Amino acid sequence: MRCRSIFIAEFVAAIVVFFILAVEVGFAGDRENRSGFRRGQFEQQSQGSQHQSNDIDSRLSRMLSQQNVTPIDTPSQDPNQVILGQALFFDRILSGNRDTACATCHHSLTATSDALALGVGTGTETPEAISIFRVRGEGRHFVPRNAPDIFNRGSTHWHTAFWDGRASTTDGVIISPAGDQLPSELTTPLQIQAMFPVTSRDEMRGLVEDAASGNELAAIDDSDFTGIWNALMVRLMANETYREMFAAAFPDVAEADLGFQHAAIAIAAFETEAFGMNDSPFDRYVGGDANALSHDAKKGALLFYGSANCASCHSGTLLTDQQHHNLAVPQLGPGKDPVSGLDFGRFGVTGESQDLFKFRTPALRNVAETGPWMHNGAFSSLEDVIRHHTNPQQSLTSYDPGVQLFQPDLRELVISDEALNEWMLEGVDVDGGSLDGNRVRLLVAFLQSLSAPDLQARLDWVMPSSVPSGLLEDGIPEMD
Ligand code: HEC
Ligand code: HEC
Repeated sequence: MRCRSIFIAEFVAAIVVFFILAVEVGFAGDRENRSGFRRGQFEQQSQGSQHQSNDIDSRLSRMLSQQNVTPIDTPSQDPNQVILGQALFFDRILSGNRDTACATCHHSLTATSDALALGVGTGTETPEAISIFRVRGEGRHFVPRNAPDIFNRGSTHWHTAFWDGRASTTDGVIISPAGDQLPSELTTPLQIQAMFPVTSRDEMRGLVEDAASGNELAAIDDSDFTGIWNALMVRLMANETYREMFAAAFPDVAEADLGFQHAAIAIAAFETEAFGMNDSPFDRYVGGDANALSHDAKKGALLFYGSANCASCHSGTLLTDQQHHNLAVPQLGPGKDPVSGLDFGRFGVTGESQDLFKFRTPALRNVAETGPWMHNGAFSSLEDVIRHHTNPQQSLTSYDPGVQLFQPDLRELVISDEALNEWMLEGVDVDGGSLDGNRVRLLVAFLQSLSAPDLQARLDWVMPSSVPSGLLEDGIPEMD
């Protein structure tokens, strides 16, 4: 029995080696060699390739350990908090107009983002629909930034949230847009982040005029965070099912002491549990399985951690340094600055000119599934993203919204002129190394190896079949 299984294992291994070789020879395009395969040649090539792959593996392991890339953690969560968080995440009751849920822009059907460059928040004409099916309401803006994926945000390595890092817990110091109104129970960036979408007028809360149609959150002053959170808790606690779910999730907190921070803690527990994944080919390789990565992905990884220098910013276990850099990404959308319509990035948080146009380095797990990419979704292909990194000047000045931006109604919202381009390029943080087409292809192979297997199938369980308010964001548009 034992012998037999060893034989089968060897047989399978031989087929795999043969397959890898055939693919390699195919890529090399050496037709003569392929047609004239002789036994001796096969052995020679086999040994050569074995040697080469050991060599790649030892170089790569060295780089990964120098870079401190360790298996990613998913802290375990209280199941009652996860269940409450799941309901809240998919429930449109959290939006002033009851038409937008967290899931609207971070849906499990669209890999925790919305598959749009810029999304559509509250005031929509199609509250039950997500992504390309969601129609902007009259007089409403696009949300000014790209909805990022939220994979692995529960890892303890995180100390920042948002594209401009405006919420953070760096060195134990908690910073957020709410200043000292932020409740003290919140300790992680993910919990802190969940307090803010409900306060944003574009994303979930609604415009002042929405107060006339029964939106009690819309009338509250923008700076009164506590007022908004309290009003939301009144809404939630009016629902008997939510009262029971909060009691089960926070048995030690008296009902009178429950605040929106408890909702945020539950949402973060759910996000951590549902979207924490650690078995992409890359993760398995980091965990010690040398066969988990394809040969191309390994070559791409050597570039990523070596000559292409990607890991100087996409570093460590999360593949981000959580610092801010200016890549001179084309400006598009309503912007964050009401006067210029531009997005100045980190500058908007610190007011320091050295932070102009800087955005936080994105983490890259599942990145191949979460386009369009960059802080405003300016690019719809990973090749374009990589080319932009290697030559931002050329990419910025030749940016073609008609080709690179797939949402037609965003194309007229691209802002570009010579002076602006020069200003953005002045402080650019990537220096145009050159990457030929083959290297770009290998880097893309590496980026693809960061995706968890069967991602969509695994996200299928994440959506509940109903939520306590009856306002489930199931993402499926109603047909007339
Ligand atoms: C209308 C779309 C929209 C809705 C609704 C929305 N988000 Fe987001 N989300 C975004 C955008 C856009 C950003 C990036 C904003 C920025 O960085 O300035 C973001 C950022 C985040 C981040 C930060 C990720 C990171 O990398 O730092 C998390 C986590 C998140 N959202 C979770 C939530 C939760 C939880 C809710 C509900 C309470 C929610 N979102 C509602 C669009 C949305
Ligand atoms: C100087 C730091 C830096 C270096 C070096 C760098 N990146 Fe980036 N990368 C960033 C920042 C910052 C962004 C987001 C920029 C923005 O949106 O304005 C980004 C965005 C990306 C994205 C899009 C992710 C998303 O979710 O939108 C990918 C993919 C990416 N980088 C891959 C790479 C690769 C591959 C390399 C090496 C060729 C590389 N990066 C080198 C800082 C860097």
